[in-house]
Amino acid sequence: MTINTTQGPSGSVVIIGAGTQGRRLAFMWSGRGGSVCLVDLQKQQLQDGLSYVNQLRNAAVDHDKNWGEVTVAHPDSLESALRDAWLVVECVPENWALKQKVITQLDDLAPAHTIIASNSSSYGISEIIEGLNLKHKNRILSAHCYWPPETSAIEIMGHQDTDPAAISLLLDQCRAHGFSPFHVKKDSIGYIYNRIWAAIKRETLLALSEGVCTPREIDAIFRDVLKTPKGPCEQMDVVGLDVVLDIENHYADSRAGIPVEPREYLQNMIQSGRLGVKNGEGFYNYGKETTDNSNVMSTPNL
Ligand SMILES: NC(=O)c1ccc[n+]([C@@H]2O[C@H](COP(=O)([O-])OP(=O)(O)OC[C@H]3O[C@@H](n4cnc5c(N)ncnc54)[C@H](O)[C@@H]3O)[C@@H](O)[C@H]2O)c1
Repeated sequence: MTINTTQGPSGSVVIIGAGTQGRRLAFMWSGRGGSVCLVDLQKQQLQDGLSYVNQLRNAAVDHDKNWGEVTVAHPDSLESALRDAWLVVECVPENWALKQKVITQLDDLAPAHTIIASNSSSYGISEIIEGLNLKHKNRILSAHCYWPPETSAIEIMGHQDTDPAAISLLLDQCRAHGFSPFHVKKDSIGYIYNRIWAAIKRETLLALSEGVCTPREIDAIFRDVLKTPKGPCEQMDVVGLDVVLDIENHYADSRAGIPVEPREYLQNMIQSGRLGVKNGEGFYNYGKETTDNSNVMSTPNL
């Protein structure tokens, strides 16, 4: 792989998966005149993705409206979509085997200079490429974003053989496209923000398991001291306690010294039917079962 860092990359950005994240990334990467190709197995997702990009464009303020073209494609025509790509980002569902399959396919089909990024939240790039037979693994990295454009943070993390030029090019281009990029400088289980948040969740659950305080007290003191809109228990309810447990299990499987009590505490809550906002009961009672979280998320029923 040869990466030219003296001038900006030419070519398009290809995004695999037009779901929640893919369509937001299509908006971001087409926001400075560059073209984007959204790829998805489902035609409906591609149509909805395009509408969503237009919705975000209509809502954008203080923007020079230098929008690039966004096209769509089925994975059957992936090879031609990748032909002039400088970057391809996979945004397919969070499934390790699927990630491995897609990354292998991208490495096989994309030109040698194309940077290949994974947006996976829980699998770092080293875990994804483990055991894979890749042609150009030095252009593969993680590029994990949060909720662009509202939350612009993106964390870039390579594996031990990632070309530093690929990382610095991507950091520069992220900055130029309205992201706030952060470089995770070592291979890490969890990104920078996720690790801090994991520690907060873990210590919250430990304090609760010891009977030190109540969820209401933890949230109240957290909000008061840090001036955040939500406390850790409220936020865990929004994420879903089953999802919180999956994430904590992943840390416990990968690292020594993670206490068991927080996971046991979560397990007990889940076994008693408390999953958080999504089923109406978690640390707090949200009244009734709901599939539309939008109102409850912003104003938990305390
Ligand atoms: N949702 C979030 O808030 C969030 C935040 C940060 C990172 N992520 C990560 O982003 C990734 C995607 O999450 P999401 O929430 O956008 O998922 P999603 O389920 O909303 O979208 C995934 C899309 O991928 C498509 N897809 C599945 N297999 C495909 C394939 N082989 N080729 C092309 N398209 C395929 C699906 O049809 C779907 O449209 C996950 O790895 C997740 O961890 C999500």
